[in-house]
Amino acid sequence: MKVLKADSAGFCFGVRRAVEMVIEQTRSGKQPVYTFGPIIHNEQVVKDLESRGVRVLTDLDRLSEIHEGTLIIRSHGVSREEQRRMEESGLTVVDATCPFVKKLHRIAEEAGQNGRTLIIAGDPDHPEVRGIIGWASGRTAVVDSVESAEELELSENEEIVLAAQTTFHARKFENIVEILRKRGYDKFVMNTVCSATDERQTEARKLACQVDAMIVVGGRHSSNTRKLYEICKENCGNTYLIETLDDLDLKPFQSFLCVGITAGASTPNSIIEEVTDYVRTKL
Ligand code: F3S
Repeated sequence: MKVLKADSAGFCFGVRRAVEMVIEQTRSGKQPVYTFGPIIHNEQVVKDLESRGVRVLTDLDRLSEIHEGTLIIRSHGVSREEQRRMEESGLTVVDATCPFVKKLHRIAEEAGQNGRTLIIAGDPDHPEVRGIIGWASGRTAVVDSVESAEELELSENEEIVLAAQTTFHARKFENIVEILRKRGYDKFVMNTVCSATDERQTEARKLACQVDAMIVVGGRHSSNTRKLYEICKENCGNTYLIETLDDLDLKPFQSFLCVGITAGASTPNSIIEEVTDYVRTKL
């Protein structure tokens, strides 16, 4: 059995940076340390941080009950209003927003200042997208598919800025750009799909075409893991999504000669290595 692991599997720059910032705060920051929402979509990492004393704050209304400590903004970022509430709470605020997401916040602010409508290609319910929209100073819209871009109601001569959620599907973004080009709007396109995502998706697609089965390791609530799963499934019918080694059932793998492994941006290396070693030794 041949096992091929994607080089791009695992933590991206922004997630590694955010997790390291939390660990740093548990050592030298004002205690207790809170993250606003789980720092990443990975239960094992969140549990490990909990064991170091990190608490997850899910509702900013609870800020009035907390009188000291450090509050960390995760890599997805928050809206301007949420950041203001955090800063006014009296807690020490540490901003672990990925710099690539911060760039989107600036694009959102500037679009309105320049009289343009901001259109984000992304999932309207994702915290990153809600955060970006929360920095906009003008009209905004979110499209999550070619169909929604076709149906988007825009007035004639509307000037738009089109950007993407960092983890948006790169090809889907190109298709949305094409739709808006055909509709003839004066548009300013900012391709903000993160290259880490693009590289991971491209490598996963290539790998899925070469192997008999694919294993995608990552959190079920992680949007980039789900997208990775979809891409692999399109190119390899025998694609399995697992969160940890405990979810892996090797029975269907007995007849396969070559297995590929990739992982989402929030999957720690330790889990990827554990799965890879297990598949290599058991098959
Ligand atoms: Fe940042 Fe890209 Fe990761 S935007 S959080 S480095 S996927």
